[in-house]
Amino acid sequence: MEPVIIVVGGAGFIGSNFIRTWLQERPGSIVSIDKRTYAAATDNLEELKDGGRHRLVHGDICDRALIGEMLRKYRPGIVVNFAAETHVDRSIHFPQEFIQANVVGAFILLDEARLYWEGLPGASKDGFRFLQVSTDEVYGSLPITEPPCDEHQATAPNSPYAASKAAADQFIRAFHRTYGVPAQIARCSNNYGPYQHPEKLIPLMILSAIREQPLPIYGDGEQIRDWLYVRDHCLALMKIIEAGRPGEVYNISARAERTNLQVVNAMCAMLDGARPRKTGAYADLITHVTDRPAHDRRYALDAGKLTQELGWRATESFESGLEKTVRWYLEHMEWVTAVADGLAYKEWQAVNYAQRRSQ
Ligand code: NAD
Ligand code: TYD
Repeated sequence: MEPVIIVVGGAGFIGSNFIRTWLQERPGSIVSIDKRTYAAATDNLEELKDGGRHRLVHGDICDRALIGEMLRKYRPGIVVNFAAETHVDRSIHFPQEFIQANVVGAFILLDEARLYWEGLPGASKDGFRFLQVSTDEVYGSLPITEPPCDEHQATAPNSPYAASKAAADQFIRAFHRTYGVPAQIARCSNNYGPYQHPEKLIPLMILSAIREQPLPIYGDGEQIRDWLYVRDHCLALMKIIEAGRPGEVYNISARAERTNLQVVNAMCAMLDGARPRKTGAYADLITHVTDRPAHDRRYALDAGKLTQELGWRATESFESGLEKTVRWYLEHMEWVTAVADGLAYKEWQAVNYAQRRSQ
């Protein structure tokens, strides 16, 4: 069968969930290209071979020759870019890696997609879509008194990660304006759900709690994030690809603002019910540690455009999504511990946490 989509960064958390969701919901096939960095979860994709409907190609988004060859070989109607370095704390330690993957890589994919798209015949050319998966972090920190921000908000990134994602967004906009490439930008709030790397807040806290280790809350823990269950993000991306307008930015959010302390306390309460400790409650493990530099105080998105134009609504509440997530991690402890017992993870823990003092 003709593959219809090229997904770049498909072995990561959201990319692998997107591939799973697309294959469940739509016909056709997917070719994913992934560098398989420390963040890639290739075993997630094993079950997705799905009778040949999905194949994973090991490759770097910065490899222009490979990207061009893949486009010419598989002739996709859709290209989706998830590939990125994604952890804010890592971007503080290793910013250049973020420029390479998130800016140079996104540019190379976009430029090769432009050349491919320019050569397509009429109807295929009109129907082609390029979706850049961006993030709410490009808007920077939102004052507590402000309403959630819509797509008109100016970008004001505060971390090297956010700056690299904002830079890629500028190229998407410029390529649509300059060349007419039918490219779109999706800016989603914080995701959680199955297969998220345990360097990120929710899986990190689940794993640490199960291991009876301290739960490291940066600073006072009153920073607010706007949480969305990953499958709802994937369904929103599908809507944008299929019905969204080229050249547009779409925010994605379920308006589930929670402080980090609220998130961790909710997760601890679920674990207390599902897998009680011998003594005490999991929340007793909460430890406040040195804050992240330039830690954004609040993210909150207004996704009214997506709801009004495309009829998207989240299916999970924060509580139902968190229940599913906690259950998934408890049932897949071997997946999490395989990642966490690897050298790369242990080295990262030393880099990121050794110098943080309890407060
Ligand atoms: P992730 O870190 O789990 O996965 C990223 C994937 O990209 C990995 O499989 C990695 O191997 C791959 N990759 C990295 N560099 C590459 C390169 N040079 N060439 C090819 N592949 C490369 O990230 P995620 O959480 O799944 O995020 C996916 C996308 O969604 C990112 O662009 C991120 O900015 C965006 N996003 C994430 C969130 C979130 O909460 N996780 C929220 C909004 C937007
Ligand atoms: P994270 O999952 O890294 O996502 P992002 O920084 O992209 O929003 O972190 C979510 C929030 O949790 C953020 O405010 C930082 C905080 N956090 C901690 O308090 N402790 C931790 O160990 C980590 C990884 C994050």
